[in-house]
Amino acid sequence: MSSLRFAYWVPNVSGGLVTSRIEQRTDWGYDYNRELAVLAENSGFDYALSQVRYMASYGAEYQHESTSFSLALLLATERLKVIAAVHPGLWHPGVLAKLGATADHLSKGRFAVNVVSGWFKDEFTALGEPWLEHDERYRRSEEFIRALRSVWTEDHAELAGDFYRIRDFTLKPKPLNTPERPHPEIFQGGNSTAARAMAGRVSDWYFSNGKDFDGVTEQVRDVRAAAEAAGRAGRVRFGLNGFLIARDTEAEAREVLREIVAKADTEAVEGFGSAVKQAGRSAADGKGMWQDSSFEDLVQYNDGFRTGLIGTPEQIAERIVAYKRLGVDLFLLGFLHYLEEVEYFGKRVLPLVRELEAQLPEEDVELGRYVPVGDVSSLAG
Ligand SMILES: Cc1cc2nc3c(=O)[nH]c(=O)nc-3n(C[C@H](O)[C@H](O)[C@H](O)COP(=O)(O)O)c2cc1C
Repeated sequence: MSSLRFAYWVPNVSGGLVTSRIEQRTDWGYDYNRELAVLAENSGFDYALSQVRYMASYGAEYQHESTSFSLALLLATERLKVIAAVHPGLWHPGVLAKLGATADHLSKGRFAVNVVSGWFKDEFTALGEPWLEHDERYRRSEEFIRALRSVWTEDHAELAGDFYRIRDFTLKPKPLNTPERPHPEIFQGGNSTAARAMAGRVSDWYFSNGKDFDGVTEQVRDVRAAAEAAGRAGRVRFGLNGFLIARDTEAEAREVLREIVAKADTEAVEGFGSAVKQAGRSAADGKGMWQDSSFEDLVQYNDGFRTGLIGTPEQIAERIVAYKRLGVDLFLLGFLHYLEEVEYFGKRVLPLVRELEAQLPEEDVELGRYVPVGDVSSLAG
């Protein structure tokens, strides 16, 4: 039975993980992030996810570029896997594949990508790239992932796609093929119907925005059904976002949440809310991320409060393991005061999670369903 994995959001964008004027003892710069990455791997974290954003927006004035920042964190650590977020549309998949192969060699097999289809139209406009309609963005992302996998695993890759063309392209060296995975893992961010279907067909990991138990259950069901329909049952793992506030008492933790929301930067939260709802609107069934997010939800821009990881270490550990029973394989966590809270999580929450996991009856846990991919040839191209 696999144990739960933990990732954290790299704070490589200024302003922290909540759009609030509450004090946030965190920093988007490299020195802070290097110290954080080392602390995180020593505190039980398996992955770090760097964000991609190219220009100022909604309370996030400064940003470090995702792939280069990820590489710097990989070189500063020994075990942490670092996931670089990338936008199809701003990268050619062959060029990213080349970067990924080098990053994977430099880090001995710890590079991964998060393919995000995008929400920030102004960023594409500013860079002179067309902003595709919602489901077209997913068609392009799927083609991007197929191209990436093909170039990472095959010689003489060929693709005559609607968005990318590759002719007789052989990458040397290929990324590492480790016992854990045949090429860098491919995560995806996006929760709409198109996103769920794409995950089933091509992704290794599906990342959900913050959700309660019902929201997770619905998505796990849909993603599994999509994977099964694509002949990939058991091959897509599920990651859930959550903003974690662990304090010695529940009252203290709840007070922190209250203060975050009370001190929200209202203008930035409302601006972000209208941009993302607009971005998802062309998903006709209204099932995209953020479509039913309230003002309070949007103060953490990935709906992280909804997961409810707010309380004492015991309460949070129980909730985390309850999510595991619903099919969550990985938690993607954000914090207010990163260094202090990552350490507290490693010391106070994670040991309780491991104790509770050990008590779960084998048949109660669906995790065993994950089948490591040996032969990827059917997925490429
Ligand atoms: C875990 C996660 C991480 C994301 N990271 C980024 C990012 O770094 N940059 C970005 O522009 N969008 C990011 N997104 C947002 C996606 O680009 C996309 O706009 C969003 O998932 C909405 O897609 P949907 O309409 O399919 O639900 C992320 C989404 C998730 C779930």
